[in-house]
Amino acid sequence: MTVSGDLAAPFGEDIWLLEGDRVHMFGIPFETRACILRLNSGQLWVHSPVAPTPERLNAVRTLGDVGFIIAPNKIHSLGVDPWRAAFPEAEVWVSPGFEERHPKIAFDGVLTNTAPAIWADDIRQQVFHGHRVLDEVVFLHRKSRTLIVTDLIQKHDPSGENVFWRWVKNWAGILGKKGGTARDIRASIADRDAARRARDEILSWDFDALVISHGACLRTGAKADVARAFAWLDN
Ligand SMILES: [Fe+2]
Repeated sequence: MTVSGDLAAPFGEDIWLLEGDRVHMFGIPFETRACILRLNSGQLWVHSPVAPTPERLNAVRTLGDVGFIIAPNKIHSLGVDPWRAAFPEAEVWVSPGFEERHPKIAFDGVLTNTAPAIWADDIRQQVFHGHRVLDEVVFLHRKSRTLIVTDLIQKHDPSGENVFWRWVKNWAGILGKKGGTARDIRASIADRDAARRARDEILSWDFDALVISHGACLRTGAKADVARAFAWLDN
């Protein structure tokens, strides 16, 4: 699933992956990836934009006009302002509570459990309630039957890590194609019932593919994989 170069790679019908830089968050190395959807309106919808380079921006421009820039949780904020500068006509939509953590980042809308009318025919969305920090919003691209997750499920590539980080990420439960929810995120669930309800809603959706921001995506079999990744909520 790794994409060579910086260009947007097709993942399915009207969905592309845009690989970003390797970044450090809280000292931990992460591979980064944006997901781009083309809505029925023709506008592009950019999930968790990666650091923009001229090549990456040009690759996106060849797909269409960016209508929406999505910050799906409070942590994924770095790409918002640079992408707004590159695409000034685009609307910025952020996760619940994002504005409290990033008061200087301008936005046009706050994501809820109800998709705004402008993309409701293309996308379903659900806030993963119950976490102390993230309030991540999970999305379904209806046309490609793809679930789009940011940090709640991670599958870091072991070949890209040194021994130390392989050990840490394995301990955290986010290493390899199985991956899962990071240990620190699991430990930060404040309302397990609310998280379970969000998980159950997501699992009721019609999807077979999975796109995540950090690590290997799945083109098929994602329903069972996501159910397994969130099984810790039932313990
Ligand atoms: Fe992340």
